[in-house]
Amino acid sequence: MILKTIEWKDNSVIMIDQTKLPTNLEFVTYTDYNQVAEAIRTLVVRGAPAIGVSGAFGLALAALQSDATEKDHLIQDLETAKKILFETRPTAVNLAWGLDKIMKVAKDAKSVDEIRVSVVETAKQMAESDIQTNMAMGKNGSKLFNDNDTIMTHCNAGALATVGYGTALGVIRATKDSGKNIKVIATETRPVQQGSRLTAFELKHDGIDVTLIPDTAVGYTLANGLVNKIIVGADRILLTGHVYNKIGTYQIAILAKQHGIPFYVAAPLSTFDLVSKPEDVIIEQRKPSEVTSIGDKKTAPDGISVINPAFDMTPPELISGIITEKGIAKIPFKESIQKLFDSN
Ligand code: MRU
Repeated sequence: MILKTIEWKDNSVIMIDQTKLPTNLEFVTYTDYNQVAEAIRTLVVRGAPAIGVSGAFGLALAALQSDATEKDHLIQDLETAKKILFETRPTAVNLAWGLDKIMKVAKDAKSVDEIRVSVVETAKQMAESDIQTNMAMGKNGSKLFNDNDTIMTHCNAGALATVGYGTALGVIRATKDSGKNIKVIATETRPVQQGSRLTAFELKHDGIDVTLIPDTAVGYTLANGLVNKIIVGADRILLTGHVYNKIGTYQIAILAKQHGIPFYVAAPLSTFDLVSKPEDVIIEQRKPSEVTSIGDKKTAPDGISVINPAFDMTPPELISGIITEKGIAKIPFKESIQKLFDSN
């Protein structure tokens, strides 16, 4: 079964509340774009492609909420909503991609009625095509994996990080569906446990053999030959092949290099930022309480200073290939990434 993370139904947005997983599978329904913004900010919905589509649905709600009767007024209301949605999470480029796509459709429409219909339709199409994109990516990536491979993954780049099927976990699903016998090792992914709460949950749900490790056991598992290949998702990929992904990805890539283990990234073209340089990318810093407690339990002294970046950057020389829906980019990334876009 494909878990649908986000859905548009009866002029409202329905999402799985990912903060409640794995103990409760609960759905929330939103009719106000401010609720969607808050859901992105608080990780009710997370994962780069999922927040891209959430942003688009947020703008669709804003178009329905607005009482504007003139096009200029409605565009102004959408710009206000876009700003609020955009500022929720700065690193994943899919959010800007989703918002810009909807704003373009709105600006191209002729009347307020046409804007309302077209933004809702476009956001729904974006959600549908997310699943198709992930399946195409899965098929492309599955060729890189062999029968009896044990594959490590970090964070959650699965159905729950997208509308459905997943990016890195989509490749894992497609590899299994191609008849290969595979096992997965998932890192718990401190501090908010997307690996143990979400990846372990969805792979177990789909009957894929998954073993959980603490983040600190990555070196041990690679040094002891327990892993053949690694695959992760991405929140932003530059034309140079610099990959921004969940904190901890960089140290896994370094360890992979040390142990000669291929390190792959899977991401749709909507995760690429062909314009920015590494120094332009903002790394989101999250609240200290994610580090000073586990769930409700405090695990650090009061007043301790904390550094809690949500993402890190893995340089291109550590990456064996970037799997997309259009093909696989390899070093030199600049040329091969550009080729994927030219073929699009
Ligand atoms: O903070 P999150 O949970 O939004 O971080 C998610 C990740 O880093 C994922 O690995 C990334 O978005 C790829 S998801 C297909």
